[in-house]
Amino acid sequence: MGRNDAQAALCCCLAVVVSLLSSVMVPAAMAAGDARHGETIFLRYCQGCHGPDGRGGGKGFMPHVGPLARKGYIETMPDEYLAAVIAEGGLAVGKSGYMPSWKTTLTEQDIADVIAFIRTFVAE
Ligand code: HEC
Repeated sequence: MGRNDAQAALCCCLAVVVSLLSSVMVPAAMAAGDARHGETIFLRYCQGCHGPDGRGGGKGFMPHVGPLARKGYIETMPDEYLAAVIAEGGLAVGKSGYMPSWKTTLTEQDIADVIAFIRTFVAE
């Protein structure tokens, strides 16, 4: 086996390890969202802008937030996208910078919980 083969084999090995790790870790962190805890977080931090039921028009700081609970909308958004907006703020996904970044306030688990709660909006 030449030097290049050995390098290629090592690279391949690393790629497998990385993909294994991410397939094990990401769903584990995201899947366990607890909507009841998410509701507490949402009512504390989010309803001021998004409204208690996610329909927008909360009586907080910015009255023009569109509804999160629009039919046929939120259920099409992947968890990764929602987690990114919530953690990094609106600007990170090309949305309004009035959507704050929550990564210093909320843990990853909190964010998974709040996503689970947001997903209950379309049930009605
Ligand atoms: C200061 C007001 C404000 C607060 C507080 C706030 N948001 Fe937002 N949020 C916004 C705005 C403004 C947008 C962008 C809306 C748009 O561009 O359609 C947004 C967008 C979002 C989006 C993306 C919606 C989309 O259409 O793609 C999600 C998800 C979201 N917010 C969740 C949350 C969560 C969860 C919290 C609480 C942890 C929260 N927001 C708190 C103002 C706020």
